[in-house]
Amino acid sequence: MKKGFITLHVNGDAHEVLVSSQHTLLDVLRGKLKLMGTKEGCTTGSCGVCTVNNGRGEAVLSCLTPALEWADQSITTIEGLEKNGRLAPIQQAFVEYHAVQCGFCTPGVIMSAQAVLNLTPAPTEEDINDGLAGVICRCTGHIKVKEAIRHVGEFGPTP
Ligand code: FES
Ligand code: FES
Repeated sequence: MKKGFITLHVNGDAHEVLVSSQHTLLDVLRGKLKLMGTKEGCTTGSCGVCTVNNGRGEAVLSCLTPALEWADQSITTIEGLEKNGRLAPIQQAFVEYHAVQCGFCTPGVIMSAQAVLNLTPAPTEEDINDGLAGVICRCTGHIKVKEAIRHVGEFGPTP
């Protein structure tokens, strides 16, 4: 089993962690860095609740990617979206549009939504549908979530 220290840049902070080839990025975020906002669901790539953003702002399933592959890479988790105590525009829009119920899927859905906006600041319906295709919400569904994304895409930060 391969083992070693790697440096991860999470939400702008560098962390040196000891990982083995058996650890996923999700294991490191939750187990070692205690960033519990990223949820653990199926761990098989089916539910999307573990979604984070990579250094290019793309959505990544942290349960599927080996931690060793993230050496020196940048990651944004749900904890990294708010700035100076202010919710990110997409978080604020989720509140305004009531896009949250139990909240279990919400970090993964928001990071998927953020990835859509990172890559296409004014997303089309197709962009939004594609971006949400990998995340499942058992309570709210995607209707309110799409309204929130559309709002940020159309009107910018202030809902
Ligand atoms: S926990 Fe990663 S896709 Fe379900
Ligand atoms: S808000 Fe409950 S699973 Fe999505």
